[in-house]
Amino acid sequence: MAQRPPIEVTQEELKRQRACMAQVKDSAAGGKYKIVTYGCQMNAHDSETLAGMLTEMGYEPTEDVALADVVLFNTCCIRDNAERRVAGNISALSALKRERPGMILGVCGCMTQQEGAPESLLRRFPHVDLVFGTHNLFRFPELLLEVLQSGRRVTEIDRDERGRIADGLPVRREGGVTGYLNIMFGCNNFCSYCIVPYVRGRERSRTIAQVVREAEEMAKSGLKEIMLLGQNVNSFGLDGESGENFPLLLRALDGVVPRIRFMTSHPKDLSDALIEEMARSHSVCPQFHLPVQSGSDRILMEMNRRYTRAHYLERVNALRSAIPQVGLTTDIIAGFPGETEQDFEDTLSLVRQVRYDAAFTFIYSPRQGTRAAAMDGQIAEAVKHERLDRLIKLQESSTREQLDSCVGSVQDVLVEGPSRRRQGEISGRTGRGMTVNFAGAPDWVGRIVPVRITASGANTLRGEYDKSGNEEMNK
Ligand code: SAH
Ligand code: SF4
Ligand code: F3S
Repeated sequence: MAQRPPIEVTQEELKRQRACMAQVKDSAAGGKYKIVTYGCQMNAHDSETLAGMLTEMGYEPTEDVALADVVLFNTCCIRDNAERRVAGNISALSALKRERPGMILGVCGCMTQQEGAPESLLRRFPHVDLVFGTHNLFRFPELLLEVLQSGRRVTEIDRDERGRIADGLPVRREGGVTGYLNIMFGCNNFCSYCIVPYVRGRERSRTIAQVVREAEEMAKSGLKEIMLLGQNVNSFGLDGESGENFPLLLRALDGVVPRIRFMTSHPKDLSDALIEEMARSHSVCPQFHLPVQSGSDRILMEMNRRYTRAHYLERVNALRSAIPQVGLTTDIIAGFPGETEQDFEDTLSLVRQVRYDAAFTFIYSPRQGTRAAAMDGQIAEAVKHERLDRLIKLQESSTREQLDSCVGSVQDVLVEGPSRRRQGEISGRTGRGMTVNFAGAPDWVGRIVPVRITASGANTLRGEYDKSGNEEMNK
């Protein structure tokens, strides 16, 4: 039997990719690329790695697909509408490909990891040249070179669900003051509705040393805020024998950059140690994304979430007593199979009780191969939509209430750039994650400044620079 490759991608494998990048660079002669990204921050960050590799290969970014020599679709399959959008947009490129047959069209990301997906993509879209998956993203240079040299279609998906970790690939981060940093990959939770464990493989963590090294490089490059990424950051380090864990990682990162955020936390694993570390840390922001999914114990059980409503609310209380100014956000699914009107009312009452700053709300979408897709009691589309509407309305009022409660306070705001709404104004975020627009100079970007909050809107705050306040670290 062939030996399984180690989870950590070896230096030799990486060396081969670097050699391929050099070879493409010699032949690419100033081509352009466009990456179209769908889905979550994981995918957004994967696209930054693809952009880093393309840059090393001598390509330059373009906003206009019509000018691109390489177009990549980095896909998402979390819900049916995500998949449909991807398919529509790939299809729309067939005319362009006829005009410019030399253009290389690649599809990667979560959608391609699904059973039968690569075959079906190649069949439905004859103009696609390259298909690869999430586990072998690091092999993109080699696969691109193969397409360039052979002129043939290339497909390669790694189906070993343990997945790989490739450390040290080039990354081209999208401007701004915040950067993404992957601390772990994959998910072991198998919530019954969710496709992620099937397309992202098992949980595997990087080491604290690797993460700190990357964070230090990010700080050196001028980033002020780091968003740590993982499907369940609470289980960081627990997949190995290292004894490392998430609170220890936060401790090691404290002070490396002025601000640290993370997502996502699973309520079943949210420990007291993490809450204590968060309360103590200078860098970790008082913001917590804690997806609840449903407020009904029966539905939570069917979802395989492995916590109860009472446990969730107890964790919320623990967070709020340790960090009184903490802002909470969540994810909620409406219309899970078997959800009764009473179950849904339980979700609404939980939202009323917790008073989130924001909630990402979704209509349940059956995903092939997941347990929930085969459950009895699938809910009619109209009912799902009607429930979602009620949920959104309730959340809107909660968001307004939370924004309103900040009026009159002075907040430290990390300036991100010019305001999108008003000319001459700048925009930034409070530690809690709320957007504030206020008068200031464009060269304040990257500074953390005290701002007195003067008014609240539906989604944002207004304020004015508070001259009497003390400006925080790193002016
Ligand atoms: N790992 C994170 C996020 C996963 S995907 C977590 O555990 O919360 C982001 C959100 O998409 C989920 O929190 C869930 O609310 C939603 N989601 C996932 N699968 C879905 C499905 N089949 N239908 C509708 N929403 C879904
Ligand atoms: Fe999906 Fe659940 Fe894993 Fe989140 S924790 S990625 S919802 S299986
Ligand atoms: Fe989508 Fe994959 Fe993220 S399915 S939500 S891009 S992990």
